[in-house]
Amino acid sequence: MKKLHKIFEERFGEGGVHYSAPGRINLIGEHTDYNGGFVFPGAVVQGIHAVLKPNGMAMVRLYAADLDKYCEFAIDDEQGPSDINFRYVYGVVREMVAKGVAVKGFDAVYGGDVPLGAGMSSSAALESCFAFALNDIYHGTLDRMTLAKIGQATEHKYVGVNCGIMDQFASMHGRRNCLMRLDCRSGEFEYFPWQPDGYRLVLVNSCVKHELVGSPYNDRRRSCEHVASEIGKNKGGVETLRDCTWDDLERVRGVVGDEDYRRARYVLGEVDRVLAVCDALNRGDYETVGRQMYATHDGLSKDYEVSCDEIDFLVDVARRCGVTGARIMGGGFGGCTINLVSDTVYQHFVETVQHEYKERFGIECKVIDVEIGDGARRVE
Ligand code: GLA
Repeated sequence: MKKLHKIFEERFGEGGVHYSAPGRINLIGEHTDYNGGFVFPGAVVQGIHAVLKPNGMAMVRLYAADLDKYCEFAIDDEQGPSDINFRYVYGVVREMVAKGVAVKGFDAVYGGDVPLGAGMSSSAALESCFAFALNDIYHGTLDRMTLAKIGQATEHKYVGVNCGIMDQFASMHGRRNCLMRLDCRSGEFEYFPWQPDGYRLVLVNSCVKHELVGSPYNDRRRSCEHVASEIGKNKGGVETLRDCTWDDLERVRGVVGDEDYRRARYVLGEVDRVLAVCDALNRGDYETVGRQMYATHDGLSKDYEVSCDEIDFLVDVARRCGVTGARIMGGGFGGCTINLVSDTVYQHFVETVQHEYKERFGIECKVIDVEIGDGARRVE
């Protein structure tokens, strides 16, 4: 990221320090995080990079190099910038101060290579990059999980997306060639080495995004909370759908309505699927992993209804090409599919999907070979 250093020097002078935090993929466990379930993400090598330096003032001055946009705000500004692009950093600053980190004015230039709107968590990468950097520069003592929660709180309070913890967790805790299984109820997590012999993970970016400012995402979350609260009326200790059984769900079926019932049915199934995938991985059984991924896609498409025509088409092409597993990844409504592809069908799949997608929708999709990288860090 020589370029960012150079831009920083031109705008703000010498001595900026370089930090970076990655985007993420998720093998399985989608829309389970805010339901207290399991997720199975890994950090990618694509990320957000920032060069920062305290400026001795009470102002934060930001230049987003990719957008060619500048913004400044006072540390104690109650409103913050109205441009959504800068609210991520503003939120992180405010949340760090609230947690007692002595953040003062600083200058920063940032940019990155996580595709936007692809379901690879470019916004979590941005939050994590600044949370990590500010904690380091201002000698904060917050651990990585707390920094992840600062990113999540930023989404909730300053951006309006009531997301779970998966993206910020992954961006903070990523480790090269490892996926992580996080139990979102207890916060416990475990690293799983990921170097599958004969297979690779491939993202296909549909390059479409239908989401309207987070609202369908928040609606899904509300549906889940509704079902959990109905179940909780007759059962103790229910905080999220994770605490509910299939029998519990059946008992409230008539009360919660068909739509919310189907949303919850997907979530309960997904919690089971993550555990099935862990077992399969321990046996090196990638065919089972792949079958579970297709099952997740069916659930996300039909019951959870967060897919779209373009993405369903990409998963169908994968199926026809003999791809081991494929599904929509991330929050939904467009973005990427994640595909577990055996080396033997890789070439055929990549050519077919590019050709057929272009024919059908008139858009070029982008194929990204996944490389699992490290979490947030200072770059020397
Ligand atoms: C988005 C959210 C995450 C998670 C996923 C779906 O990426 O930020 O918290 O809910 O969607 O699994």
